[in-house]
Amino acid sequence: MSSTQGNGSGQSGGNGGLIGWIDERFPLTKMLEEHVTKYYAPKNFNFWYYFGALSLLVLIIQVVTGIFLTMNYKPDGELAFKSVEYIMRDVNFGWLIRYMHSTGASLFFVVVYLHMFRALLYGSYKKPRELLWIFGMLIYVVLMAEAFMGYLLPWGQMSYWGAQVIISLFGAIPFGIGDAVTLWLKGDYIVSDATLNRFFALHVIAVPLVLIGLVVAHILALHEVGSNNPDGIDIKANKNAEGIPRDGIPFHPYYTVKDLFGACVFFLVFFAIVFFAPEMGGYFLEHANFVPADPLKTPEHIAPVWYFTPFYAILRAVPDKLMGVMAMGAAILVLFFLPWIDRNPVRSIRYRSMAYKVLLFSFAISFIVLGYFGMQAPTPTGTFISRLCSLIYFGFFVGLFFVSRSEKNKPLPERVT
Ligand code: HEM
Repeated sequence: MSSTQGNGSGQSGGNGGLIGWIDERFPLTKMLEEHVTKYYAPKNFNFWYYFGALSLLVLIIQVVTGIFLTMNYKPDGELAFKSVEYIMRDVNFGWLIRYMHSTGASLFFVVVYLHMFRALLYGSYKKPRELLWIFGMLIYVVLMAEAFMGYLLPWGQMSYWGAQVIISLFGAIPFGIGDAVTLWLKGDYIVSDATLNRFFALHVIAVPLVLIGLVVAHILALHEVGSNNPDGIDIKANKNAEGIPRDGIPFHPYYTVKDLFGACVFFLVFFAIVFFAPEMGGYFLEHANFVPADPLKTPEHIAPVWYFTPFYAILRAVPDKLMGVMAMGAAILVLFFLPWIDRNPVRSIRYRSMAYKVLLFSFAISFIVLGYFGMQAPTPTGTFISRLCSLIYFGFFVGLFFVSRSEKNKPLPERVT
């Protein structure tokens, strides 16, 4: 009797033994099939499709190394800087853990920027993936908050003054609201021990929880609608008798193997940096941050880490503080609306007009140039070029809104190529 009623003898998912036993109590095989072994992804993924999995990998690296850092770090204005030095010099492999975490932070943005650019290349934000894109954008904003708060923790000069500058931006909000907000954020009249404590709490637990939740939502949304691909063609429109897309292949083993290869190459680059150039010439760890925070001594030149500098350059390009803050906010906010700004139903750049290619190329270049000038001390030439590039940056969205309505697309193929 028991064998027909399911005692672990293989009633569900065709598995006996332990797996069968679990399957009767928890949807293990069902979930694995839905998301891995029977998740059919387009067969034409290319280089650009490595970066989602790599983002996930870096997220794991950050969480694991972060846990070990927390074991020896002290969130205290008197002890923070020294505790980081202690980790670097006295804790077994502390230097490795710390450099993995700091390098991971920068490489997180490298892979996420490439991941986002892929979406622009292949129109992955378009219907039915709008929500997937919005989850991605929320991840991006939360990731920036996470990195910003993490950067205060070593309590070096740049940690301190960078936080001072960024928090003071909120002071631009009029009607006294700005002052109240900055006071509330800092928990004091200056960036102080109180600020360090709350940033620690947020960086170590609150924000990572939100981030992980958003990543789960991001992947659930992806698996609900299915992956886009470099041709931007819907593979679900062409299924065989079993209902499997003709141009789809199971995620496992095909893409697990591909992603494993990507992870190996990533690790080569990652550890080359960790072992040979962890400061990356001051781009990953700024020189001024090797000096303990001093509230009485402003560094000569304050610049955020490279991944924030495009937006910092936009901020500085606008003469008025409030307008600058608004422009900076708008530069991020506008990306949320991309699915509705781009009105061309054709997704992939392969089948779109020259106008779109020119727009996207100028946008990417302007972003990089802004990033460069955001790192430099302000000069008249730098300000002029930053203004020009800010116009190109916003011009991309305005141009796209109009161009995408009546674009001359190339004929789409029946199946993926
Ligand atoms: C922690 C950060 C992130 C993780 C772990 C992550 C993870 C992933 C994974 C695993 C995929 C499927 C594989 C792939 O297409 O490469 C994916 C797809 C996608 N992601 Fe992300 N992602 C992150 C951030 C972002 C951000 C910031 C955006 C955009 C604002 C974004 C937009 C997308 C889009 C549009 C797709 C679908 C791409 C397609 O099917 O062509 N993601 N993501």
